[in-house]
Amino acid sequence: MTEQSTSPLHKPLTHNWVSVFGFMLAMAFLVGEALIITLDFVYGQNNPYVGILIYVVGPAILILGLLMVPLGMWLQFRRRQKGMVEKEFPVFDLNTPRHRLYLTTFVIISTVFICLSMIGSYQAYHVTESTEFCGLMCHQVMKPEYTAYQYSPHARVDCVQCHIGPGASWYVKSKLSGLRQVWAVATNSYELPIQTPIENLRPARDTCEQCHWPEKFYEAVEKSLTYYANDDENTPYHVKLLLHVGGSSTILGHYTGIHWHIARDHKLEYYPADYARQIIPWVRVTHEDGRVEEFISTEATDFDKSQIDPAAIRELDCIDCHNRPSHRYESPFASVNQAMELGLIDPKLPGIKGVAVEALQGEYQTTPEALQAIEDKIRGQFEETAANDPEIKAKVDQAVKQTQAIFERSIFPEMKVDWTKYPSNIGHFDFPGCYRCHDGKHATPEGKVIRDDCNLCHSIIQQGEGWEEINQLEYKLQDFVHPRGMGDAWEGQNCHECHGPGMM
Ligand code: HEC
Ligand code: HEC
Ligand code: HEC
Ligand code: HEC
Ligand code: HEC
Ligand code: HEC
Repeated sequence: MTEQSTSPLHKPLTHNWVSVFGFMLAMAFLVGEALIITLDFVYGQNNPYVGILIYVVGPAILILGLLMVPLGMWLQFRRRQKGMVEKEFPVFDLNTPRHRLYLTTFVIISTVFICLSMIGSYQAYHVTESTEFCGLMCHQVMKPEYTAYQYSPHARVDCVQCHIGPGASWYVKSKLSGLRQVWAVATNSYELPIQTPIENLRPARDTCEQCHWPEKFYEAVEKSLTYYANDDENTPYHVKLLLHVGGSSTILGHYTGIHWHIARDHKLEYYPADYARQIIPWVRVTHEDGRVEEFISTEATDFDKSQIDPAAIRELDCIDCHNRPSHRYESPFASVNQAMELGLIDPKLPGIKGVAVEALQGEYQTTPEALQAIEDKIRGQFEETAANDPEIKAKVDQAVKQTQAIFERSIFPEMKVDWTKYPSNIGHFDFPGCYRCHDGKHATPEGKVIRDDCNLCHSIIQQGEGWEEINQLEYKLQDFVHPRGMGDAWEGQNCHECHGPGMM
């Protein structure tokens, strides 16, 4: 007996450093994992890094450790083979108590491990689907989208519900394109800002319609806007409109209003002449009875219908209007107006509108630089008045804080993202939006025009200028009166031609 145990041949093959180390590593991680997973189940956690550690890195090391055991055994086997002549496999004998103990231990550990890794991969699936994973793992790159998202009506909708949607094939597709993106981030080879439209975005009807029902009929949606002038009084101009969203009317049996476009009884297609889909020279409506109408823009003089690439024709869906449902980067003009209307910035602070907008529009390389500049600019403006008036000083402090907050949620110099980079297709004030088709210049050969009258999409029911007057405005259907004494000088041009990026 003593003879046998001293012979190297009778030591188990696992008797080598690689296997022993691998086994210890695996055991250490197994115990650690079991502990953290239990804690995770009991307390829950939202930190994506912890999730990645537990469910992706941990199991990987565990598997590595376990693989080291047979690897070491194999190396040991080879070593013995070289040194000795006989090519024997180790003897495994269930009659030996020690061998039975090995087997039982192995079976127990493997079972526990397999169970845990099943839970693990299920959790890994969830982690890679979580909003925190999408938004924070590539923190720098996705910061604009993640930030804007948190302030959007969809703040509780997971990224994947719009970007991937249900079904395994899109999950796989998204993970493949995700790998490409990880590569792009790792090698710093992505474009700034991120290009839109996202070409391979899943058709909106598969995603949005998981929650929104196009057949739903919407009553008029009210939009109430107050614009403050760039003067000492911040003179307000107020407009209230009712948007005719509509939808399917079960009583009438057909679609009306703005959501007419997505009715299932006809098909609306268009051909964009540019990558951003901002120029639309050609529109086709195929009606239920097979009738086809083709509208061509009279402005697109060099447009030749025969050169349309059929693959580039797009069927209009939710995203063609709601392209910023979740990542809306407001213009300084709009966000300061809104902050003032909500009272976050006091509209009684003389000239604050102009100063705040100007501060937000500065050319900045980094966010900290911008925040400092905003503070300096606003404080500078009120230096004298605030010095002897604590009340004004408090309002200035508040205005600084709010203007900085606007910057942080809508402008991202590091990623070269701001409102001018991502046109919003809803409306027509600062981007062409609906006017890409509804400019009154898209006509069929018979002369039918896509309508552009101001009451087609909404009704203006209140408007007026001045602090006192606004409180006395009546509700009545009325024509738009352009503020600030413009008279009819605006007519004949679209709003965005004067109000769009770089104009005001
Ligand atoms: C309500 C649906 C919705 C949700 C939720 C959503 N997105 Fe988006 N996302 C969109 C749409 C629509 C676009 C624009 C597509 C286009 O123009 O082609 C977009 C665009 C993007 C872009 C391209 C750049 C840009 O700003 O347009 C990125 C990056 C992005 N989303 C990341 C995210 C991340 C990260 C989350 C979660 C934190 C998220 N999205 C949540 C709908 C959504
Ligand atoms: C997982 C469910 C879900 C998905 C998917 C989803 N939404 Fe929503 N959406 C919501 C909820 C919930 C609200 C209401 C939020 C509230 O009222 O606070 C909402 C609100 C909206 C609104 C009204 C916003 C406002 O200003 O009040 C629009 C427009 C909208 N969604 C468009 C879209 C579009 C376009 C898509 C697809 C790109 C989409 N949604 C995908 C759940 C979803
Ligand atoms: C032709 C443009 C257009 C298309 C296409 C379109 N919408 Fe809208 N939708 C609008 C406008 C305009 C509003 C009014 C609210 C606004 O301006 O944000 C609106 C409002 C909504 C609202 C919010 C209503 C409320 O109570 O505030 C939801 C939800 C919505 N749309 C979902 C969808 C979904 C889902 C699709 C695709 C199946 C879709 N829309 C397609 C233009 C469109
Ligand atoms: C791709 C082109 C295109 C875009 C973009 C577009 N429309 Fe239309 N729209 C049409 C066509 C074509 C018609 C049918 C002709 C008509 O009624 O004048 C139409 C009809 C309408 C109608 C009348 C529906 C009815 O009840 O008969 C409304 C309202 C409308 N659009 C609102 C909007 C709004 C609001 C937007 C922007 C958010 C918008 N459209 C964007 C092409 C477009
Ligand atoms: C094809 C549909 C359509 C037509 C035609 C149209 N509008 Fe609009 N308009 C919209 C939509 C949609 C919005 C709301 C955008 C949003 O939800 O942000 C809007 C918003 C506005 C606003 C608020 C602007 C803002 O700050 O966002 C004003 C003012 C306005 N329209 C005036 C007009 C006038 C004046 C005309 C006629 C010259 C006109 N509209 C024609 C669809 C239309
Ligand atoms: C020919 C150029 C032009 C066109 C077209 C135009 N505007 Fe204006 N708009 C102006 C100018 C200039 C001002 C005054 C800005 C100022 O006083 O600081 C102004 C001011 C405004 C204001 C008040 C905001 C402020 O800062 O004082 C609103 C609201 C407005 N326009 C809405 C519209 C709408 C809606 C349309 C389209 C129906 C439109 N405008 C078309 C040039 C134009």
